[in-house]
Amino acid sequence: MGTMGNNKIAILLSGRGSNFVAIYDAIRRGKLDAEICCVISNLADATGLRLAQEWGLPALCIPSKGMDRAEYDRRLVEALKPHAPALVCLAGFMRILSPVFIAAFPSRVLNIHPALLPSFPGLHAQRQALDHGVKISGCTVHFADEGMDTGPIVMQRAVPVLEGDDENALSARILEQEHDVYWRAIAHTLAKISAKNAEN
Ligand code: GAR
Repeated sequence: MGTMGNNKIAILLSGRGSNFVAIYDAIRRGKLDAEICCVISNLADATGLRLAQEWGLPALCIPSKGMDRAEYDRRLVEALKPHAPALVCLAGFMRILSPVFIAAFPSRVLNIHPALLPSFPGLHAQRQALDHGVKISGCTVHFADEGMDTGPIVMQRAVPVLEGDDENALSARILEQEHDVYWRAIAHTLAKISAKNAEN
């Protein structure tokens, strides 16, 4: 535990895990005072899961295929609760959470999305931005609720869309900002939670 009470964070991911890696690096470099208490993937072959295992973090796959949403979320909660995370951070976790999950961690779930919400929620946010011809997009860290990429916004970064951008170019420019904004939003939220706890 760090200087500010419970600073444990759980990470949920489904794939590459570059946001997880950025958070891990921020901790390792002493920029973010937090401890990754567990990493869970819904897909067994997620690169992020493999990295977490290599680095000796508590990491597991809870496969979601063919499972009822509420039942799946109950399993997730069951796996997470013993770690008592102050925050659950969705990092490319490509599933909508049910009320079961949100109720278990009220105002304790963060998500990152590669657009300036409420614009372009859901899949392929960067392609949606290009299709609409917006000149500015970006990324958003927000508290997750039962909706798709909805809930109170914590931090955003604006990113210009440049002439000739394709989906890859825009995604890379946004991702660079994702990697810098997520750990800052986590630090900010952990500090807020601990200040609130100190009040009570
Ligand atoms: C990130 O761009 C993240 O913002 C996005 O998935 C990618 C995961 O990359 N999330 C969403 O679109 C949520 N609706 P990563 O696995 O390398 O962190």
